[in-house]
Amino acid sequence: MHPDVKNILYSEEELSQRVREMGALITERFADTANDNGIVVISVLRGAAIFVADLVRCIDLPLEMDYMALSSYGNEATSSGRVRIEKDLSTSIEGRHVVIAEDIIDSGQTLQYLIPLLKKRNPASIDVVALLHKEVEGQIPVDCLCTGFECPNEFVVGYGLDYAQKYRNLPYIGILKPEVYQK
Ligand code: PRP
Repeated sequence: MHPDVKNILYSEEELSQRVREMGALITERFADTANDNGIVVISVLRGAAIFVADLVRCIDLPLEMDYMALSSYGNEATSSGRVRIEKDLSTSIEGRHVVIAEDIIDSGQTLQYLIPLLKKRNPASIDVVALLHKEVEGQIPVDCLCTGFECPNEFVVGYGLDYAQKYRNLPYIGILKPEVYQK
C-alpha cells in the first residue's frame, strides 16, 4: 500500500467486480439502441478516465467515447464550488443517447452545471453513472442510472482520483492520510 494512504476502501478486485456490474446494467438499459448507433459515453476528465476505460470494456453495445474536462476545484482537499470547462466535446450529441460517466459525485456542482449544458444540445437522452457517490451534507441531488459505491466523506484517492494531481495511478481507492493534505 502507498505510504500516504491510511487504508484501502475498495480493492482492485472490488472495483473490477462493481464496474462489470455497472457495464451489464448499462448494456441492459440501452439494449434497444444496439441496432442503431448505440450510446455516447462521456468521460468527465481527468478523474473519470481510468473508470471509463474499464467501464466501456464491460458494455456490450456499439458506443462512442468523448471527453469533457471540467474543473470543480484545484489543489485543495475541499470543493470550492467553481466549475469551468477546460475542454469541450469533440462531436455533436444531438439525437444521441448520452451516458455521462463520473468518478465521484461530491458536492454535485459539476453535474448540476454539466447536465443542463448538455441538454441544450438536444440529445435523445442523458443518464449519469458515477463510480462513487460521496455522503456529503448539503449535496446537490443528482439522479443516477447507477452508482458504484456509497463513499464515506473522506479524502479518497486512486483509480483516477487525485490529490494535487497525484495518486491517480493507484489500482485501488484508498483514504488519504490527513497529514498529507493538512501540511
Ligand atoms: C472531481 C471529480 C468530479 C468532481 C466532483 O473533479 O472528478 O468531476 O470533482 O465534485 P463535485 O460533485 O463537488 O462537483 P476535479 O475537479 O477534482 O478534477 P479532476 O477530475 O481532474 O480530478
